Amino acid sequence: MAFIVWKDEYNLGIKKIDEQHRSLADTMNEMFQMFLDKKMTDENFKIITQKLIEYVNVHFNTEQEYFLESAYEKTQIHTSVHDQMRLRAEELKVKYDQPNSNKETLFFELAEFLQAIWVWHINSFDKEYVPCLHAHNIY
Ligand SMILES: [Fe+2]
Ligand SMILES: [Fe+2]
Repeated sequence: MAFIVWKDEYNLGIKKIDEQHRSLADTMNEMFQMFLDKKMTDENFKIITQKLIEYVNVHFNTEQEYFLESAYEKTQIHTSVHDQMRLRAEELKVKYDQPNSNKETLFFELAEFLQAIWVWHINSFDKEYVPCLHAHNIY
């Protein structure tokens, strides 16, 4: 069972961004499946957090390049939210690397973080920039 079943309404109509959002959904599904299968080993957790940090950086950079290109009026606030999320992702990774960290608690912290990106960031915050990008022919 997938944790997130992709729906058409999740698409923003900007190809590169939709692909990246979709790959986040895939990573989340992968992570939950691992958890259900009791395969969330140290090694797998590392792979997932690594992927997540990569995702966060690559994806946020993509959005911010589009903001520049379209002179998006909410660039500053959106970018500062991205920065907070970049820090949070790094923080989780650092915590995890500590020898005595409670891996189970961290798993739930990571899941909560991903859910915040998913539910709030993608589905409300990101949607706000769509008209501006489309007006600048970014699809
Ligand atoms: Fe996004
Ligand atoms: Fe964003």
